[in-house]
Amino acid sequence: MNEFELFPEAASSFAGELDLLYWFLTAVSVIFTVGIGVALLYLGIRYRRKSDDDPPPEEIHGSNLLEIVWSVIPLILAFVMFFWGAHLFFKMRIVPEDAMEILVTGKQWMWKLQHPNGKREINDLHIPLGQPIKCTMTSEDVIHSFYVPEFRVKQDVLPGRYTQLWFTPTKIGVYHLFCAEFCGTEHSRMGGKVYVMTPSEYESWLEGGSDASLSPVESGEQLFTSLGCATCHHDQKTSQGPDLAGVFGSMQPLDTGEKILADEDYMRNSILDPQSQVVQGYGKIMPSFKGMVTEVQISHLIAYLKSIGGSEETESTDEEKPESPESASLIDVVDPGTTGQRYVRMER
Ligand code: CUA
Repeated sequence: MNEFELFPEAASSFAGELDLLYWFLTAVSVIFTVGIGVALLYLGIRYRRKSDDDPPPEEIHGSNLLEIVWSVIPLILAFVMFFWGAHLFFKMRIVPEDAMEILVTGKQWMWKLQHPNGKREINDLHIPLGQPIKCTMTSEDVIHSFYVPEFRVKQDVLPGRYTQLWFTPTKIGVYHLFCAEFCGTEHSRMGGKVYVMTPSEYESWLEGGSDASLSPVESGEQLFTSLGCATCHHDQKTSQGPDLAGVFGSMQPLDTGEKILADEDYMRNSILDPQSQVVQGYGKIMPSFKGMVTEVQISHLIAYLKSIGGSEETESTDEEKPESPESASLIDVVDPGTTGQRYVRMER
């Protein structure tokens, strides 16, 4: 039964108690719903009026015992729910002092995370097992929501202020990180993974220059994936950005009408200030990666782009694009027929 699971894995110190409370609420609801429904059906049939001559039943007035019972039992149940819920709420709100602080920044459409020693990650979070983790979160643009189902934590992330959540991971593994607040076109892809590792593994991960053993091209390829570049830059017709295979070293038509050589400087500028030189036919949607990639990482990324780049003669890989800005304008429309790819480019 691995395919179908009612509940995500329970991987934080809250999960057990939270699930128990959830099941308690569910059980109470089910017991009352079924009990009342069955009683209603049974009494309806058992005491139905069989013919017009049937005398109406005798009316009953007042039963103190009955009224006390049906008031006190629900009152007790409601108090249990309230105090249990409140207890858990405070437990999840009050951050322990020894919690390790992770800075979380939401941005359309990625999670930026930073460890206490300054190490940064995007859409990935590595944390040590058994260590209380406090996330201090804010947004660069709109409201996002930080959600890790396996930890049973979810908290809105707001622009212009800090929100917090905390948890203690109790199980080694890889878990889902979601954005749970609709934040724009790429909302459903705004997510990543949380890696819970042993404290010693975490230490070595933290110290390891993550790409030390990799060549610049390999490291660049890894960055290309981990930064989410491939989300938009792929070769499907539905891509939101140009496919970058064959681009390096070619002439690129810009939306200003001019053509520019895709060299190192162009690539670097496109990473740090993407809106300044937009390739013809594409929207100004790419966020800047300024501050999220080091100069070394940028050079690795460019090394990778070079490796998939074309020589001068494989110049044109852009049949999809309109010949000139006047001949067509591109609009993004929702295509209900495709799942996973929610946008198609249409000319009109
Ligand atoms: Cu960010 Cu949805």
